[in-house]
Amino acid sequence: MYYIGVDLGTSAVKLLLMEADGTIKNVVSKEYPLFFPHPGWSEQKPEDWWEAVSTGIKELIADVDGSQVGGISFGGQMHGLVILDEQDQVIRPAILWNDGRTGKETNYLNEVIGKEALSKYTANIAFAGFTAPKILWVEANEPEHFKKIAKIMLPKDYIAYKLSGVHCCDYSDASGMLLMDVQHKCWSKEIIEICHISEEQLPKLFESYESVGNIKADLAAELGLSADCKIVAGAGDNAAAAVGTGTVGDGMCNISLGTSGTIFISSKEFGVDKNNALHAFAHADGHYHLMGCMLSAASCNKWWMDEIIGTKDYAAEQKAIEKLGENQVYFLPYLMGERSPHNNPDARGMFIGMSMDTTRADMTQAVLEGVAFAIRDSLEVAKSLGIHIERTKICGGGAKSPLWKKIMANVLNMKVDVIASEEGPGLGGAMLAAVACGEYESVEAAAKAIVKVVDTIEPDAEVAAKYEERYQKFVTLYPTVKVLF
Ligand code: XUL
Repeated sequence: MYYIGVDLGTSAVKLLLMEADGTIKNVVSKEYPLFFPHPGWSEQKPEDWWEAVSTGIKELIADVDGSQVGGISFGGQMHGLVILDEQDQVIRPAILWNDGRTGKETNYLNEVIGKEALSKYTANIAFAGFTAPKILWVEANEPEHFKKIAKIMLPKDYIAYKLSGVHCCDYSDASGMLLMDVQHKCWSKEIIEICHISEEQLPKLFESYESVGNIKADLAAELGLSADCKIVAGAGDNAAAAVGTGTVGDGMCNISLGTSGTIFISSKEFGVDKNNALHAFAHADGHYHLMGCMLSAASCNKWWMDEIIGTKDYAAEQKAIEKLGENQVYFLPYLMGERSPHNNPDARGMFIGMSMDTTRADMTQAVLEGVAFAIRDSLEVAKSLGIHIERTKICGGGAKSPLWKKIMANVLNMKVDVIASEEGPGLGGAMLAAVACGEYESVEAAAKAIVKVVDTIEPDAEVAAKYEERYQKFVTLYPTVKVLF
């Protein structure tokens, strides 16, 4: 049998076709537009996602027998607000995870409702990109839209709905809505009331590896699939990526260098840090995880390469970088504001420390290093909780760069295990579908059988020591320049 993993990302959807033993048979990528209607706002059209997924599936299975696809599952960009009316029509464009418009609503939740109450109800506090403050924003700013809301869902769940006709969501992704009681895996009555919505407007909750139903028969015929093909709940992209890199069970770590940058620590037990600096979410393996999320990671490099120096040859630019740990230029990677650990949608990017002999390569290096330092910020929070991590997996577009992986290993002073495929969320999605169809008895069993480490990058003591010194300077920068934002 074959299994399809849909990685519904911010710049594109990547569809991955996997054989039951984990062999990747095909990958298809389809881009769609991202809209920034105001500075700090970020939107996409759910209809564009569906168009890309439905045409992408046909392309993905063009060379195989489509009736042999057992299931489809997802790793989806998290937190995005998708609202549908009574006729299941999209009311307005989705407000994405990296949208910073909800400063006022986030402050209301954290300051008036209070962080302690939020943490008690949901295990988390409010961040501008989370779904609940967006619901309050729509209520305050677009009352005509708010009145029409029949269903509230997350990005990948819109695709699951289009495929199956079921309004569904999984626990890992629902954790990031700030509407779910993460510990008890149910919607929080208190927050639902605070957001002036009702439980009927929310989708049914599933484990990530549970089937929500079969594909709609007419759609199966149109896409060339069997009507027995299962649609499987799937996960938020970080939890799906963790599955795809074997970051399941207890105390494992994964770093994702995608549009966002995350550090993800799996745990069998539910746990919350005292200040809620890390997100405490459910994991796709049935357990829990802690996560720090920076809003711009590989997207900082993309911005620097594509928009500023105007090149598509990222590898050629990185070739000129030789000396690690000695760069005098610092880059603050807050191009879309920042989530972990600063929680400031108004923060902005910055280069600091240039002199007349600064080169283009120094600036490129500073961008890669700035992202690594910002990931280290979240790692420091985890360390302060007594979590000891010796090694990490890595995935996402940025993980394609050998130089960036080396910088990560030395800035974090941690072994970085490289997996055969860096298609984290797509592979994880396909694995979840395989588990739901009975190919593996659990997500952990699937990860054990499928995920293979092919290389390990060890930190170099001398370079790591130089980066340690630079990181101690980096941490002084944000508090110093914060007054500007
Ligand atoms: C996680 C987060 C991002 C998006 C990116 O909290 O907001 O990683 O999921 O797609």
